[in-house]
This record gives sequence, structure tokens and C-alpha cells, in this order.
Amino acid sequence: MKILLIGSGGREHALAWRLKQNPLVQLISAPGSSALATLGVCSPIAPDNIGALVAFAKREKPDLTIIGPELPLVLGLADLLRNEGLAVFGPSARAAQIEGSKVFAKDFMVRHNLPTASYAVFYDKEEAQQYLEGASYPLVLKADGLAQGKGVVICGKLESALKAVTELTKQQAGRRIIIEEYLAGEEISYFAFTDGHTIKPLPSAQDHKTIFDNDSGPNTGGMGAYSPAPLVNEHLNKTILETIIKPTVMGLATEGSPFSGLLYAGLMITLSGPKLLEFNARFGDPETQALMPLLKSDLAEILLAVAQNRLHETNIEWEKKTAATVVMSSAGYPGPYREGDLITGLDQARARENVFVFESGVEKRMEGTELNSYTKGGRVLSVTALGDDLSLAVKNAYEAVQDISFKGAHYRRDIGGKGLRQSLLYDTETN
Ligand code: AMP
Ligand code: GLY
Repeated sequence: MKILLIGSGGREHALAWRLKQNPLVQLISAPGSSALATLGVCSPIAPDNIGALVAFAKREKPDLTIIGPELPLVLGLADLLRNEGLAVFGPSARAAQIEGSKVFAKDFMVRHNLPTASYAVFYDKEEAQQYLEGASYPLVLKADGLAQGKGVVICGKLESALKAVTELTKQQAGRRIIIEEYLAGEEISYFAFTDGHTIKPLPSAQDHKTIFDNDSGPNTGGMGAYSPAPLVNEHLNKTILETIIKPTVMGLATEGSPFSGLLYAGLMITLSGPKLLEFNARFGDPETQALMPLLKSDLAEILLAVAQNRLHETNIEWEKKTAATVVMSSAGYPGPYREGDLITGLDQARARENVFVFESGVEKRMEGTELNSYTKGGRVLSVTALGDDLSLAVKNAYEAVQDISFKGAHYRRDIGGKGLRQSLLYDTETN
């Protein structure tokens, strides 16, 4: 089976690694990365160069194209490839608006009675500022469009909110601004495969968004993850599926934009139940690096079944273990960061049982007879380890992290901490 994978990050490395467990899979990545080049052929086409990607796919005729990042989805790559008769894993541009436009997403949530924070939409800075003068805090400000993680600001008081409005409206994504009620609680990433009819949820996961321990410092693309999340017990899982995921899939279908691909609901588990923070129209990063080593079934078969509207035929099995993922980043990230530092210890970490290293910002250079790895990105790599429970998975992941070093390497020391506290809570409750 010939598969074209669009993307270059740690998420795509994890997907590619899992796809290649099937010996029949022949992988092409665009643009790919040095890690993806070890698993197949790479073609250096940027993910927003939609014309070139379509021309490339027409030439290569893959049996399946998997679109990793959000930008090509929002730009309509899936539609154009489907028009060429190609099988695609990823939603249409219309369905991807649930990620591409936060105003669309919030309005959709209200139309379909989905639980979410109350909000107001503003089309100009002055109007938003006026509203903020009379509001109570904390509040959340969001730019409407894709903003690469820079579009959401949580404001504790008026002064910071006024500053945030000025900053957000400077961005292309901030032509419309949402001001939203602040929700307190635990954040969960909930993923489901869907072909628009059948829905198959993945194990729950938790991301760690901020750069420093104890959820402090600026937000990043994600500094670690674990799966499953002890907070999402059977009852909560059912509530999320029935009150959020099913109505979302049905709502998109009835509005003429059926969703086919990976639906990602970013949820806050509040005292009054799960509430939607956002939708994404793709796999999460770094949650995918935690989830792929847990998947027992053939990923290529699942994604092809989604693309061909026959997800109901699949039987998806997961390891009864826990995965913990620790992201190692370059000094300075998420601000300007160092690059070009030698990375050592990758082979030692990979030699450990049930440990997986997925690369996102790594460049490989042939030096003499040696292939060396250097940092080339903010998030450099993620280390995933499996364990019989969360505490063992976390322990194994941190042991493997100790094998790897590069100048200025940063990682959070508290990945899984919240989940461990929740498991203790449940153990105490049930004992
Ligand atoms: P989003 O891109 O909408 O998920 O927002 C990015 C991050 O901001 C989320 O992962 C949350 O940590 C935080 N966030 C977004 N909306 C809210 C909200 N209404 N209340 C509290 N935190 C929020
Ligand atoms: N884990 C956050 C994201 O993929 O957007």
C-alpha cells in the first residue's frame, strides 16, 4: 500500500513509525524530515503549497494520503485530492473550519447545544476594549483564525486584556476576536476516528501546554502527554461521547459538511461536567506520540477504512498499558531558540524496552562515517515509554530522557503528575 503522509513533525514521525509496522506499506512524506527519511522517501514540498502537493499526488497515485497538520486541511487539500479520485484521511475545508475559525466553532457549538464557555465576538478593537472595561475577570481572549498557538490569551485583569486585544488584532488571525468566559478545571484531549457515520474513540489523553512545571510560563505546542487519563473514567467517557462527540459529528453532517478524519475535542472537565474549549481537525501533537505505541491494530487499515467510509468494518484494539511522553525542547522555546547542537544518546534511549523516540526538530548530518543528529527546531523530540500504570510509564520515560542530551535541553519534570494525583484520589475513593 502506497501512502503519502503530509507533514514533518513528531506527530508524523509517530504515525509513520506505526504505519510501517505493516510490511506492505510504502511511505512517501512531504515535506518529511530526517526521521521520516529513515522510513521512506521524502519530497520537500511545503504543507501550504497546495498546488504542488496535488500535482505530486496525481503523479504518485498513492492508495491513501494522510494529512497531518491543520493548514493544508483548512486550505482544502483533502477536497482537491478527493476530486482527483484519491483516498484521503482528513476532513474537507468546510468541515475543517471547526479548527480554522474559532468563531465558526463557537457558533456551531451553540447551534448544536454543545457545552462550552459563554462568549462574545468582536469585529473591531474599540468595541472589544469597551466590553473589557465593564467585564469581570479572569477572561479568555482568542483570535478567530489559525495562529500557531499564539491566538489565545488568558487575562487576569483589565490592563492585560487591553494589551492582549492590541496584540491579537495585529495578527492576520485576529480580524475577529472572541472574548470568552474562563473555565476552571482539568484539560483533556479527546480523539475519535470518524468517517462521518461511525465514531471510534481513541484512549483519552492529557497534554501539558505550558513550558514550565506546574502549568506555568507561556503556552507551547505541547510539552508532554500521557494516555489514558485516569480522570476520564467510563462514566465521563460516555458523557463526552454522547453529549459532545456524537452531536458534533451529526451536526456537521446535517449542515452539509460531514467530517471524515480525526476529530479532536479539547475539553475542560469542570465541576459542572465536560465543556468544549476548542475543536481540532487532526491528530494532536504530542498526544499522538503517546497513543501510537498503544495501538495494537494496523493503523494503515484504520485510516484507509475512514477514507473509504467503512470505519464500521474495523476492530480497533489498544494495549492495556499506559504511555507517557516527555518532550525535550531547545533553550529559549517557545521564544527564539538555539539550533545546531549535537544530540547524543538517541540510540541508548531507543535500545530500552518499550521506549520510543519521535523526532520533530532534528537534522541528521553525515560526518565521516557517522550519521550525527543536531537540534533544528523548538520542540526537538519526544520520548514515549509504556508502563503497566501511569507511575511506571512516567518513570520509564524519565529514565530514557536521562540518556539523551544536547546543549540547553529543556523538559518538564512533572509530566503525568496531575494524572498520578487523580489516580491516588480514585484509589482512595474506591478503597
Ligand atoms: P484553544 O486553542 O482554544 O484550545 O486554547 C488554548 C489553551 O488556552 C487551551 O488549551 C486552554 O489551556 C486555554 N483555554 C482556552 N479557552 C479557555 C477557557 N475558556 N477557559 C480556560 N482556559 C482556556
Ligand atoms: N496538543 C495540542 C495540539 O495538537 O494542538
